[in-house]
Amino acid sequence: MERREHVVLCCLSFFFFWISAAGVNPEVLALTDIKASLVDSLGVLESWDVTTVDPCGWGMVSCSADHSVIALGASSQNLSGTLSPSIGNLTNLQILLMHNNNISGPIPAELGRLQKLQTLVLSNNFFTGQLPNTLSHLKGLKCLRLNNNSLSGSIPLTLANMTQLTFLDLSNNNLGPPVPEFHVKTFNIVGNPLICATGNEKDCCEQHIYMPLSSALSNPQNSETSGRPKSHKIALAFASSLGCICLLILGFGFLLWWRQRYSK
Ligand SMILES: *[C@@H]1O[C@H](CO)[C@@H](O)[C@H](O)[C@H]1NC(C)=O
Ligand SMILES: *[C@@H]1O[C@H](CO)[C@@H](O)[C@H](O)[C@H]1NC(C)=O
Ligand SMILES: *[C@@H]1O[C@H](CO)[C@@H](O)[C@H](O)[C@H]1NC(C)=O
Ligand SMILES: *[C@@H]1O[C@H](CO)[C@@H](O)[C@H](O)[C@H]1NC(C)=O
Ligand SMILES: *[C@@H]1O[C@H](CO)[C@@H](O)[C@H](O)[C@H]1NC(C)=O
Repeated sequence: MERREHVVLCCLSFFFFWISAAGVNPEVLALTDIKASLVDSLGVLESWDVTTVDPCGWGMVSCSADHSVIALGASSQNLSGTLSPSIGNLTNLQILLMHNNNISGPIPAELGRLQKLQTLVLSNNFFTGQLPNTLSHLKGLKCLRLNNNSLSGSIPLTLANMTQLTFLDLSNNNLGPPVPEFHVKTFNIVGNPLICATGNEKDCCEQHIYMPLSSALSNPQNSETSGRPKSHKIALAFASSLGCICLLILGFGFLLWWRQRYSK
């Protein structure tokens, strides 16, 4: 009797854990916040629906095999509005691409919480304010492109500590001196009138060929799941819950039958 109760309890607690974990997916909450602060004139974020179990089927979101969000690729989508500080809650993010949009406001300091971030591209928007010095916390960041925005102030000296950085593009902003000594392979700061306007100055202005970004966007996981409608997912979750309950009842019934039959 004790063992049977144990098994049933174990099954039930697993079931409830699973349901509650699905209900409060923090990545769904964060992405919902991000959507709310953007203006989506083309409706490209319509698949971002808070009632889904996980965001892996949403457009422009890519997940790892264990269903955590590792990439957000929303470039050239005519998005405006601002970038929500909740971006800092997508703690598994490795790639964030939001270039060629009309996003304004500050670059959230909360980006510094994304310890796994490798590529951050916010080029060609209308971001204003200072470069957050929290970016220097991103120990895995290799590519940082913030060119063609309206960023101002001086570049935080702590950014020079990002020795793993290989590509840094701060060109075409309104940044001012001093310029930290970066040890990156590719560094571009032309078109910041207070530092170097023309690209002729020897030390601070190096034009380089941009590396292609399209490869970062094509994640097979995304194309695989994005076609699946959300109703299908909810139905699937519901059906599997029902199935689980049915199995439990059946198993319980079988145990009772077994006991009755062999206790005689
Ligand atoms: C983001 O994380 C912070 C701290 O963990 C939490 O207080 C906040 O509610 C989260 N925001 C969202 C939108 O989930
Ligand atoms: C920015 O918005 C303007 C209209 O306000 C539009 O013409 C332009 O294409 C947008 N730019 C991008 C990069 O989406
Ligand atoms: C881009 O967004 C702007 C402002 O939100 C809007 O006026 C414009 O029509 C949009 N462009 C397209 C191609 O939808
Ligand atoms: C960035 O701005 C510069 C100067 O305004 C412009 O020449 C260049 O085409 C822009 N780059 C992109 C990718 O739009
Ligand atoms: C860089 O990091 C080192 C050690 O972590 C620290 O002592 C130094 O002050 C940092 N430099 C800047 C400019 O923050």
